Amino acid sequence: MRLPLNPGPIGVFDSGYGGLTILHGIRQLLPDYNYIYLGDNARAPYGTRSFDVVYQFTRQAVIKLFEMGCHLVILGCNTASAKALRSIQQRDLPELDPSRRVLGVIRPTAEVIGHLTRNNHVGLFATEGTVKSHSYDLEISKLWPDIKVSGVACPFWVPLVEYNEADSPGADYFVKKRIDELMHKDADIDTIILGCTHYPLLMPKILKYVNPNVRIVPQGEYVADSLKDYLQRHPDIEKACTKGGNCNYYTTENPDKFKESARIFLHEDVHVSHVDFE
Ligand code: DGL
Repeated sequence: MRLPLNPGPIGVFDSGYGGLTILHGIRQLLPDYNYIYLGDNARAPYGTRSFDVVYQFTRQAVIKLFEMGCHLVILGCNTASAKALRSIQQRDLPELDPSRRVLGVIRPTAEVIGHLTRNNHVGLFATEGTVKSHSYDLEISKLWPDIKVSGVACPFWVPLVEYNEADSPGADYFVKKRIDELMHKDADIDTIILGCTHYPLLMPKILKYVNPNVRIVPQGEYVADSLKDYLQRHPDIEKACTKGGNCNYYTTENPDKFKESARIFLHEDVHVSHVDFE
């Protein structure tokens, strides 16, 4: 692989559209940088795929974003952060290019959660892969040992979003079912992490069924805060990120389809190109 040496945009990757909620948060706080968004929509969802498959797919995406000139890649996907980030950071980066960086979304959320819960009872909605990886429990227990985390996998939530059914009456059934399941696990939960970047799109339904005293935590804002802090602490990486305020979108699926769905997330028309991983 030939890697470009010049500064480049910040890459944001997700299995599909969910990472757009992360990109949105980041661009709100850091609008001056250039970005590339890459959605592996052709192979989404990742949530029920095996550890090894998620790792291989994510590795391919990271290499593609490096080839496109990114020195810094954010895995805007909890499933990829849970199943692939550590291997990519520890095993692949030293070989691919030790000067580049790949960051995830779980750590920034874990760091902030102790400031948000009032009673240390935290709930987690995430994909099956993320819940089973126990990444949240582990990260949170390192930083906030007194917090009890109860997680529930929400297998139908990502397809509801990917297929633009988040506002449909059918979504009510699946959202209520998982909220009931979570509150049954721990009735004292006062804070719920939306540990899948697709889930903020289901926020109106979630708020409809969750007790109003329970705080719902989407990640975009916290990932953005953490990235800002990271760039301040790593001037070498900051210098490797170009500015200009633009964003180019890439999908492994049909660009027209992506453009149509991206409108739901971004409320604007974007230019989208097709990309393949070889
Ligand atoms: N949006 C992703 C996440 O944050 C993954 C959804 C999926 O592909 O299953 O986990």
